[in-house]
Amino acid sequence: MDFQLKTLSIAQAATEKADVLIVLVAAGTSSAKDALSTLAAEARKAGDLPDKAGKLLALYRPAGIAAARVLLAAVGDGGAPAVRTAVLAAVNAAKGASPKRVAIVFAGAPDAASLGSAVLASADASYVYTETKSKPEPRTIRQLTVGVPDAAALREAFDQATATVAGVELAKEWGNRPGNYCTPTMLADAAKKLAELPNVKCEVLGPKEVAKLGMGAFAAVSQGSAEPLRFIVLNYHGAPKDQAPVVLVGKGITFDTGGVSLKPAAEMDEMKFDMCGAASVLGVFRALGDIQPPINVVGLVPSCENMNDGRAIKPGDVVTSMSGQTIEVLNTDAEGRLILCDALTYAKRFAPAAVIDIATLTGACVVALGGVRSGLFSSDDALAGALEAAGEASQDRCWRMPLDDDYAEGLKTHFADVANVAGRAGGAVTAAKFLQRFAGDYPWAHLDIAGTAWKSGAAKGSTGRPVGLLLSYLLAQGAKAAPARTPKAAKPRSRK
Ligand code: BES
Ligand code: MN
Ligand code: ZN
Repeated sequence: MDFQLKTLSIAQAATEKADVLIVLVAAGTSSAKDALSTLAAEARKAGDLPDKAGKLLALYRPAGIAAARVLLAAVGDGGAPAVRTAVLAAVNAAKGASPKRVAIVFAGAPDAASLGSAVLASADASYVYTETKSKPEPRTIRQLTVGVPDAAALREAFDQATATVAGVELAKEWGNRPGNYCTPTMLADAAKKLAELPNVKCEVLGPKEVAKLGMGAFAAVSQGSAEPLRFIVLNYHGAPKDQAPVVLVGKGITFDTGGVSLKPAAEMDEMKFDMCGAASVLGVFRALGDIQPPINVVGLVPSCENMNDGRAIKPGDVVTSMSGQTIEVLNTDAEGRLILCDALTYAKRFAPAAVIDIATLTGACVVALGGVRSGLFSSDDALAGALEAAGEASQDRCWRMPLDDDYAEGLKTHFADVANVAGRAGGAVTAAKFLQRFAGDYPWAHLDIAGTAWKSGAAKGSTGRPVGLLLSYLLAQGAKAAPARTPKAAKPRSRK
């Protein structure tokens, strides 16, 4: 979709040619006398447009307005969450008319967050999956114009928002593709394609290299699959080389049958989404390539299938991880932690400022937090706080969970250094405790996105989360790092 930012007062919006014009109407009175302001004021006064965000009033060919269809959309206090609610409702309603051109106009001047919210929400409401349809019906909305009183003042926020949309949509796209259209090799090819972006590099390791690195846990998960595993290493260089990178690690199980500890048939198709952590890492790199913030970021994606086969790992098998720790695989369906633990060990070589892993890791996290907030686990309060703040700012929220050592009791076994599962109780936490053993001495956080990465039921599909949260976090790091850049570049050693 083509997004445009335009200086457009509410009075000027009356002459804007669009198939649907969405007017965001905030609570509180406006004394403006132009056609749209008058319509909005009268509708509010008559009680036909309550101030609650998401309430809509549809008008057809109102006098003095160029657009044939006008949707008045209440935005309550006009804050970013309310704008999101209003724009989702309005664009969903507008879709009925199959519009090609939609314009959204803010009556008052929005802040950067509210503008970003409108862009992200309109993209969310208009995304259409087409990859495996024989007669794809592409998204009808081709052009979306966002009108604000002063476009120049919001240009940077707008550009960040449209880059975020590109990242979110890449994550949705790969998340939605079925297992036979999203193998580890195909995912790695998608990552390689990202290296066409400025300052983005990509390297892909195969089974031989992974064996040589000693990633015995990762390799063990893959051994029952006919598809070769891939270990994807992405690099974004926006800051001087000596600046420690943030490392993102994404779980890339392109299909999770459970292995010998086979999952039940019902809803097993949804395990094609088990690479949504990986997809979110690709999405972040897509956006970084556009935004070019002054930071360094590494993306690591261990990717394979978890299949049931004559060669597959069996419950009770002991595997040796890259860290040297041995693991008793008591349940082959707890495979995510097995591929992530080796990636966490690999991450040490980057001397990272922080490592964040993103994984559709446990059904227990879905039970705990549902589809609203991702589970956040971290050994570092500053990192946890920054991720929580990024979640709020991007409306891609998370909730911090505990990591008391007592939760690790159940992972003890007589036959290896650690077991890959504990009992049923506290399953999201025990999974995080397992990962924590492999996190080096870098600040580490784990996002369990099992509940938030996709929706089930009628609205089945990938959400593209937590691309918004991660970008918000990374851009905040860039904003902190930027002032330090000039003196650093002046250092003699960087002049060679
Ligand atoms: N990919 C699943 C987690 C999952 C399950 C996400 C359902 C979303 C919905 C993961 O690999 C898994 O199977 N986890 C097991 C762990 C258990 C065996 C300790 C689970 O949650 O049941
Ligand atoms: Mn599993
Ligand atoms: Zn899984």
